[in-house]
Formats: sequence, structure tokens, C-alpha cells
Amino acid sequence: MHRTGPRIRAVPVVSPALSTDDRILLAQISDLHIGAGVGNADPARRTERVVAALSGLDPAPDAVIVTGDLTQLGEPGEYGRVRELLAPLEMPVHALPGNHDVRAALHDALLADVATGPGEFLQYEARVGRLRLLVCDTIIPGEDGGRLCAERLGWLEAALAADRETATIVAMHHPPLTTGIEAMDEIGLEPVSRAQLAAVLDRAPNVLRVIAGHVHRPMYSTCGGRTVFSCPSADVAIRLDLRHGAELGVLDEPPAYALHLVTDGTLVTHVQPLP
Ligand SMILES: [Fe+2]
Ligand SMILES: [Fe+2]
Repeated sequence: MHRTGPRIRAVPVVSPALSTDDRILLAQISDLHIGAGVGNADPARRTERVVAALSGLDPAPDAVIVTGDLTQLGEPGEYGRVRELLAPLEMPVHALPGNHDVRAALHDALLADVATGPGEFLQYEARVGRLRLLVCDTIIPGEDGGRLCAERLGWLEAALAADRETATIVAMHHPPLTTGIEAMDEIGLEPVSRAQLAAVLDRAPNVLRVIAGHVHRPMYSTCGGRTVFSCPSADVAIRLDLRHGAELGVLDEPPAYALHLVTDGTLVTHVQPLP
């Protein structure tokens, strides 16, 4: 096809802390549920395939984040298997807990070298090139729903207040959004936590994305004016059933991963199911 007239290049919405020369690739995988098995689904085999796909990417991701539910029961043996499955990844791998995880076992398996806190909470800051990653812990031990209590939210608020410039991604397991899938919303992030998080995010325009897992489907929404993204699962998907009173159903859909790419001074998020 022949172009007519001058070539017009869109003017990017450049994050103040990113230049158009920055190229940063953060891969996200979620909800591996190693140790589970629904029907014919084999979570370990599925994670193995996702890891192989990430390992084969060119350009390679600068880092990988695993947004919770790494295991089904949170047992040390399951985390041992998770370590084996993630071992082919040569880039830094960041992890955070989901409702199927146990903090101490996850910490010992994957976060032993990371300064986490406050208290027992597995929260920490990491860098991916010029991108800042703020990792939050939304779990309530023994429950499926999520919470950001005053201590956890205070940590996030202080981290954001300390740096209003650096382009930032906030990661957590329970996404701060309403899915419309009733049974999933019943085990979502508590409404009070969501409202308080929204107020914190509203003051942090350098947060380019809130990324999460838990809902086993790709979804997009907003919280405090920031874009929220939930990553599909490496394990089975949750059925997209918006009927009132519908029970939670699972689907044996292809495992998938997401790629968050800083390019042209902006952040774009791709979702890639495996063939
Ligand atoms: Fe999950
Ligand atoms: Fe979950």
C-alpha cells in the first residue's frame, strides 16, 4: 500500500518519568495452583508450558511477576514443585501470596532474600529497569477474600508518597474491581479496602497500572483513576457467567500469560493464551 501525504506519528502520552527510549518488559503469570487438578487439567504441566513460552520470548522479559495462588494448599512440597517449575526462568521472578498460599512457606521458598513487611506481610519494592514495582499482600489466612488493612495500606501509601515521579506498577492478588461474576465478587477485595486503596491511588498519578490475579480471567477496570488489570490463570479459567445467583464454574481454557511493555513512554498490556 502506498502512503499519501506525510507520515503522521501519534504523540505518545509520556509518563513524566519515562522516556520514549525506555523499553521494559515485565511478564505476568498468575494462579498456578500447583497441587490442584480439576478434571483432566494438570496444573504443573500447564505452568511448565507457560514457563517454556516465557523462556522462548525474544526479546526476553526483564522480570516475571507471579500474582498469587502459586499452590493449591500452601504446603512446602508444593512450593518445592513451584521452584522446580520456575527454575528455567533466567530473569528475576517476583512473587506475592494469594488466598491459596501460606505466607511462611511462600517466603521460605521464593522470598527468603527479600526484605518484606511490615510484620508478617509479604510486601516489598522491586525495580524492573526504570519501572518500580510495589508488591502488596492482600490475603486473610483461612479465607478466600482479600483485605488491605491499615498497616498494609499505610506501607503502600508511604511508598507512593516517597516517590511521585518513578513510573510504578502496583501488584496484588485480589484485584480492586467488581467482576459482575457474583460468586467471584463474594471472595474479592473487601469494599472498604477498595475504597481506601482508591483514595491512595488517586494521589499517585505515577501508578501506571494495578495488576492482579485471583479471578482467573483477563479483566480491565479502574480504581482511584488508575487502570486495573487481572491476568488470566496458568491453570483453569473461571466461567464468564453474569447470571444472578450463578455458581462459580471452571473452564479448561488454554493457560495464558500477560506482558506489560513500556514503549514509546507508555505502558501497554498484552494477553497471550497458549495455542
Ligand atoms: Fe486462583
Ligand atoms: Fe485466588
